[in-house]
Amino acid sequence: MAMENFKQFLFALSAAVTVGFISIIFVLRWVFYFKEGLAWDGGLAEFNWHPVLIVTGFIFLQGIAIIVYRLPWTWKCSKLMMKFIHAGLNILAFIFAAISLVAVFDFHNTKNIPNMYSLHSWVGLAAVILYSLQLVLGVCIYLIPITPTYLRAAFMPLHIYSGLFIFTSVIATALMGITEKLIFGLKDPSYKDSPPEATFVNVLGVLMVIFGGIILWIATRPSWKRPSEQVLRSPPTNGGGSVGTKVSQQTDPIDPKGNGDARRRSGKLEDSGQVN
Ligand code: HEM
Ligand code: HEM
Repeated sequence: MAMENFKQFLFALSAAVTVGFISIIFVLRWVFYFKEGLAWDGGLAEFNWHPVLIVTGFIFLQGIAIIVYRLPWTWKCSKLMMKFIHAGLNILAFIFAAISLVAVFDFHNTKNIPNMYSLHSWVGLAAVILYSLQLVLGVCIYLIPITPTYLRAAFMPLHIYSGLFIFTSVIATALMGITEKLIFGLKDPSYKDSPPEATFVNVLGVLMVIFGGIILWIATRPSWKRPSEQVLRSPPTNGGGSVGTKVSQQTDPIDPKGNGDARRRSGKLEDSGQVN
């Protein structure tokens, strides 16, 4: 693989996936071993869908969606295909988040608990709304083929910044959420007495911070970015720089899938680098 520091990339990726999986196991163990399990009955077991779907969907799946372009073995796939995967994973993450909100609102309404009183709920709902906006704008600008290239290029720094900003806010919201839940839920012994559940769930919080930190690291290394289509599709004799040379050898420059996507865009449209 021609990626710079490939071993470091692999290490960071395996660390992210491992920590992400362990977080999912932790949240499942929390709700099944320490709490009431999962059900859709208006009670505490319904509330439990809220953290489970957030950790698996809104945190883990979103994290993977963010770094999916950076997996070097996907660089031989067309950009269009990768856009579908990036958008698809983000849509899945959004569906998880939406169902998790239905669970907590339904639980509050059944138990006559007020809605939207906490900082957690304010920042959380804002993050979900911004995320849905990011999704709609992403689809309109980068998937629908009529959007002009200059608009795609102009919007990209904002797309990347807001994507990382929302992801970070989601982790912060989840930390507030688990803290609230421990304070509300632990009575005799209470949170301050550090019962096993409190320590266990604190560790879950630390794992989420580490997961977020690794994803942000991977997503902000310039040398791990997916090379532009021009570099990827140029014939091997052209060179194409240290990143592209080997990848382009694995790729049929004449676009064997025949979707025309790569050829149409190579050259003229991508002169300025990573624009779409
Ligand atoms: C409530 C969003 C993660 C625990 C809420 C509410 C929203 C929300 C909008 C208000 C529901 C209502 O007013 O009826 C989010 C988002 C999260 C997230 C976007 C993603 C990061 C978590 C996690 C936990 C949690 C991981 C851990 C258990 C709670 C608790 C409530 C709640 C205890 C009820 C108290 C309150 O309204 O603040 N959440 N949440 N949340 N959430 Fe979360
Ligand atoms: C890149 C986030 C939805 C298209 C990125 C990046 C982030 C991000 C953080 C930078 C990745 C990198 O530098 O490797 C998000 C989030 C979304 C979302 C959080 C959902 C809420 C979409 C959608 C599309 C899209 C629906 C439509 C196809 C792109 C494209 C890139 C990108 C084309 C550039 C990738 C590259 O050339 O390296 N996105 N995105 N995004 N996103 Fe999204």
